[in-house]
Amino acid sequence: MTTDTTTKSAPTGATPGEPVLDARGVTMRFGGLTAVSDVDLTVNAGEIVGLIGPNGAGKTTFFNCLTGLYVPTEGEVRYKGQILPPKSFKVTAAGIARTFQNIRLFANMTVLENVLVGRHTRTKEGLWSALLRGPGFHKAEAASRARAMELLEFVGLAGKADHLARNLPYGEQRKLEIARALASEPGLLLLDEPTAGMNPQETRAAEELIFAIRDKGIAVLVIEHDMRFIMNLCDRVAVLVQGKKLIEGDAATVQSDERVIAAYLGEPLANDPGAAEAAEVEAAEAAAEAAAQTAPAKENDR
Ligand SMILES: Nc1ncnc2c1ncn2[C@@H]1O[C@H](COP(=O)(O)OP(=O)(O)OP(=O)(O)O)[C@@H](O)[C@H]1O
Ligand SMILES: [Mg+2]
Repeated sequence: MTTDTTTKSAPTGATPGEPVLDARGVTMRFGGLTAVSDVDLTVNAGEIVGLIGPNGAGKTTFFNCLTGLYVPTEGEVRYKGQILPPKSFKVTAAGIARTFQNIRLFANMTVLENVLVGRHTRTKEGLWSALLRGPGFHKAEAASRARAMELLEFVGLAGKADHLARNLPYGEQRKLEIARALASEPGLLLLDEPTAGMNPQETRAAEELIFAIRDKGIAVLVIEHDMRFIMNLCDRVAVLVQGKKLIEGDAATVQSDERVIAAYLGEPLANDPGAAEAAEVEAAEAAAEAAAQTAPAKENDR
């Protein structure tokens, strides 16, 4: 199922190749620390793009710069050609939705209510309409509920609409976050480690779900540490290391790049004193172990 090429085709109606997201020279500094450094990244209509890199590489910070949680120190981000406003609710209204690395649900609300919260940027009913609860309000509420149920059906949670979010198993909470993000009717969905904590079956189901989302005409940018998942899913993969984009390309190109292998296997980078030190300690430990192994032989010789 995972490698089905039919699911990889661009969705009908989308214009493949047209940029949905265009981030240029994005830099984010926290005091003396440059978490993201001059990163360019585009996501085109019909694409699933992966963003990978070791822990602390700046992936989540980059997402935060795309979604108005952080205002980048330098650079600009465009969504469908328009520069994004530096406020997260405005970014959501413009058409970018996201999920979080650390799940952010309303734990004491039901599954359905969580999705309804995600719809608020798309409902036009104002304060007076809500207070007076006139026919307009009831009609809009019914339409919202119907759409929320449709989304729950889509992610496979319709049967749990009345459950409290906190009672869902971890994998289903991640699905609910996706349903809530989809409720804002985005054109681009950003997923920050959507399969973290999932078992292999749940991960495969998440893969199918992301293909289905793309097939509905929503471009996807996904952060993940699970390489098999990312390489199977993505049309393109960009690698961040120490805040910089190291390489970008298709799965085969990225997987065979020696710098990517070095970054993941922890080979000491020239400018990483911590890794160099660790390698020195490892070498000293190996020498001590070798010496210990030869010692009993010498005793026997005597
Ligand atoms: N608000 C902040 N203030 C100061 N430093 C921050 C802040 N947010 C992130 N950082 C730092 O920026 C760097 C990048 O962190 P980030 O969370 O973006 O990495 P990541 O690639 O998402 O890592 P992981 O794979 O572990 O989630 C880290 O050194 C982190 O400590
Ligand atoms: Mg992160």
